[in-house]
Amino acid sequence: MSGDLSVGIHDLSFSTTQFVLTHQTLAAHNGTDVGKYHAGIGQRAMSVPAADEDIVTMAAAAAAPIVARHGADRIRTIVFATETSVDQAKAAGIHVHSLLGMPSATRVVELKQACYGGTAALQFAVGLIHRDPSQQVLVIAADVSKYELDNPGEATQGAAAVAMLVGADPALVRIEEPSGVFTADIMDFWRPNYRATALVDGRESITAYLQAVQGAWKDYTEQGGRALGEFSAFCYHQPFTKMAYKAHRHLLQVCGQEIDEERIAREIGLTTSYNAEIGNSYTAAVYLGLAALLDQADDLTGRAVGFLSYGSGSVAEFFGGTVVPGYRERLRSESHRAAISRRQPITYARYRELHEHAFPVDGGHHPVPTETTGPYRLAALSGHKRIYEPRQSGLAHR
Ligand code: CAA
Repeated sequence: MSGDLSVGIHDLSFSTTQFVLTHQTLAAHNGTDVGKYHAGIGQRAMSVPAADEDIVTMAAAAAAPIVARHGADRIRTIVFATETSVDQAKAAGIHVHSLLGMPSATRVVELKQACYGGTAALQFAVGLIHRDPSQQVLVIAADVSKYELDNPGEATQGAAAVAMLVGADPALVRIEEPSGVFTADIMDFWRPNYRATALVDGRESITAYLQAVQGAWKDYTEQGGRALGEFSAFCYHQPFTKMAYKAHRHLLQVCGQEIDEERIAREIGLTTSYNAEIGNSYTAAVYLGLAALLDQADDLTGRAVGFLSYGSGSVAEFFGGTVVPGYRERLRSESHRAAISRRQPITYARYRELHEHAFPVDGGHHPVPTETTGPYRLAALSGHKRIYEPRQSGLAHR
């Protein structure tokens, strides 16, 4: 790779859903002490998609402001990472490409490895930019996390899309070499093609995540990575925000360091605020952590941030990034906060209806009533095709 070339995240924007179910409402329904949700797993609320929202509408809403600000001329690749794909063959990114009116001279592809896919997309994008620094890559990570009703995983559902523009001389975060990677063949969380909801062995998944943290960190140090103390903050994959605390404690232990709760809160506390309100967004979760950190931290210029991405099954990667001077002028903090606060709270009964909603599979014409107030919507399922449309024009912010 070209030695001095700086490559990384040039812009970052996220979107989430029309509706929100609070954990207070869930707890009142199932009789759980809400303290288990708020303090035990660190979750306050979960984003719930309307029937006319999915990974494509969220992804288009996340990416539109990026294309509005930078144009699409240099974006020759879109890599869309998801584990809640809408088609077995066609890449969801092609719908986004179409909704955003991007040039035909673009390659579009979809990637999958559970919640790790967004990081694979980012790393592949970095490689493409090293090959031709004049190009940019649009990386999208979007997911709807869905477990069976009344399953322990139900409280960790959520939905969001993060769009990142990756290029040379990035304005936000320079992605560093090396990376530490780890793979283990386990069945801690998975979703067979015939199921709409994920299967999980909750306790095993936590153990598998912690083992992966250890394995990825070991490889990172063997590849000549930074010492732990050089990082100012850490963005972990957050299936629920308390998992980031478990993971960081484990990493400190592995490195033979004292478990100092003040240090842990200082190093990861700010990364959890968006995920606590949105819930698990699988591929997007680690980058919602980055958004929350950049949007809220006092000046991080020149500081190193550690990233730990975990995808069940399992693959993990640890890598570092450096925050670039001037980054604060490029942030989208206001629209990020608005994406969370604009959601409409729903009752448990309405949530249950949305959870159980499934389209007929007869190939007929099935229009979807307008519910979302976001910029893009799923208008119909017709002849087995998903038909997307802009809800109204001119909503993209620069
Ligand atoms: N007040 C405060 N805390 C309370 C409490 C109360 N009233 N009641 C319970 N708690 C605490 C518990 O002590 C426990 O804390 P620790 O983890 O520190 O021990 C915590 O709340 C959770 O309680 P339980 O373990 O009893 O909860 P549970 O059995 O209902 O399930 C879960 C928890 C396993 C995480 C479940 O939500 C689940 O299966 N989630 C989906 C799987 C998952 O997210 N796995 C994470 C790793 S895999 C991954 O990261 C990939 C991915 O995205 C899926």
